[in-house]
Amino acid sequence: MNYELIFMCGIVGYIGNRVAKPILVEGIKRLEYRGYDSAGIALIENNTLESEVSVGRITALEEKISGRFSKGTYGIVHTRWATHGAPTLENAHPLIDCNNSIAVVHNGIIENHDLLKAQLEKEGHVFRSETDTEVLSHLIEKYFNPPKADLEYAVGKALKSARGTYGIAVISSRDPNKIVAARRGSPLAIGIGQEEYFITSDITAMLQHTKKVIYLDDNEMAVLTRDNLSIMTFDSIPIHKKIEEILWDAEMIEKGGYNHFMLKEIHEQPESLRNAMMERLDDISGCVRLKELMGKHEVLRNTKRIVIVACGTSWHSALIGEYMIEDLSRIPTEVEYASEFRYRNPVIEAGTVVIAISQSGETADTLAALREAKRRGAMTIAICNVVGSTLARESDAAVYLHAGPEIGVASTKAFTSQIAVLYLLTIFLGSLKNVSTAKNIEMVSEIKKLPDLVQKILSKEAEIYELAKLYSNNSNFIYLGRGYNFPVALEGALKLKEISYIHAEGYPAAEMKHGPIALIDRNMPVVFIATKDSTYEKILSNIQEVRARGGKVIAIASEGDSMIQKKVDHVFYIPNTLEVLTPILSVIPLQLLAYHMAVIRGCDVDKPRNLAKSVTVE
Ligand code: AGP
Repeated sequence: MNYELIFMCGIVGYIGNRVAKPILVEGIKRLEYRGYDSAGIALIENNTLESEVSVGRITALEEKISGRFSKGTYGIVHTRWATHGAPTLENAHPLIDCNNSIAVVHNGIIENHDLLKAQLEKEGHVFRSETDTEVLSHLIEKYFNPPKADLEYAVGKALKSARGTYGIAVISSRDPNKIVAARRGSPLAIGIGQEEYFITSDITAMLQHTKKVIYLDDNEMAVLTRDNLSIMTFDSIPIHKKIEEILWDAEMIEKGGYNHFMLKEIHEQPESLRNAMMERLDDISGCVRLKELMGKHEVLRNTKRIVIVACGTSWHSALIGEYMIEDLSRIPTEVEYASEFRYRNPVIEAGTVVIAISQSGETADTLAALREAKRRGAMTIAICNVVGSTLARESDAAVYLHAGPEIGVASTKAFTSQIAVLYLLTIFLGSLKNVSTAKNIEMVSEIKKLPDLVQKILSKEAEIYELAKLYSNNSNFIYLGRGYNFPVALEGALKLKEISYIHAEGYPAAEMKHGPIALIDRNMPVVFIATKDSTYEKILSNIQEVRARGGKVIAIASEGDSMIQKKVDHVFYIPNTLEVLTPILSVIPLQLLAYHMAVIRGCDVDKPRNLAKSVTVE
């Protein structure tokens, strides 16, 4: 059976002196955005393994287990998201061994599961699911031979014969009062409470209990008991790990009064932009300080070429970064889809710096591209939002967004913070290369104004809502921009399609005449980013071309441009700023437009169909 890649799952484990069920259910609900096809829970009560699974949302599981699991003080829970095959009860995690004594929850893929399964069946193991994960339950059973073997020994041995990626948590009635967790390729973090421990694939699941966290690295295993936590290799060799402090509070996770995380995060952008710049700007000298790059100045000064790798929205911010760095720091820069870069045998010569951009820091393609770049000798810089994420820990330096948790699947504040950080990096690199322009002081003072300008745009949200009502029944859209606003056109189109399921394309405006203009008719609304910049006149003629063919035009224009409103059907004005900073402003109305159209269409904005927040496997 050919297992497609795609699992993004949520895992939570708890062991302590409190009843585990409410903690596990509440925790896994916070990870539901990672996947919600099926869910399952397992605890040990009276030394017996009890488990339950359900298909659909976590609430289905909650109903199924009401009145049960009222005593157990440790257990594991899982929410699954998979495109492979229909989600069924048999395939829901946890997966159990033949004697109903070992339960495993897993995020990732066991690539040699076919071979292992055949071997185990030959040895008499009976499988109940079509998942790859179940081979782990039976492998652990196979290697679990007390009194010599304890659970961690059996898990370590099992994982050494499994190939692929995993973040797993395991409990067993044969070795009670402990949770064993292990990681290779899928994130796992351990929360440290008062005489209690948590294990999770995403720290937001345990924020209301503890902010002390240890991040497991690849090929590390953890044994959690009520009064002890030990980290080791799969051969049980002890490993010392640093305890990190999470700065995010649980309430930051809540929706803060908004109907959706996405809308909350759109409105957080003035704050997230301030945080991206905090302690990094010197508006007197026009200098930028990036402490994460301390000690890298020499290498960066000798940079000959920059390659930026990313996926999705992060790839759009990478494109803006390319324009900025070449325009202002004069360093040759190119952008690649991470998924393409990793397989195309790229040329990485001496002096190449590879920048990997990822909000989650766990996107498998971006991780793989970073590793490929390192393997070929490049210096690597991560730009990401999650402190301690795999990308951050595996790069030579990580520059954080400090945007706070982004829960909505559609990325918004991370995008504008990525642009802001790329802008700071551009100024920083320019000064290292002595290409710093006299404009530095102006550029630094201009970016400091942006949070207030974004706030001004957000205060006009009602205008966007009116537009959304007019166009929410359309089934196609085109987004057009030039220069710095071309990637914004791509981003606007992605926002619309991923949450409203309306087909939308972004193009460089000049490309229309090379074919796509054939699409234009009165049913094809076209959004132009038509701000007053170096390409404005060209954009005006592109608008005429569309109007001449009966297309409806919505323009994002610069305040004070009274002329444009005679040439288009609708105008939304944004404040003026430097051309290079316009994307941070021009994307805001497009985020709001996508959001309101999706809500009007009754779509699940925070958990769009077929998508997950972090694509942790290729
Ligand atoms: C953006 O709205 C999408 N959710 C998606 O394209 C996302 O940007 C992409 O998966 C990359 O995620 P990352 O930034 O966490 O690596």
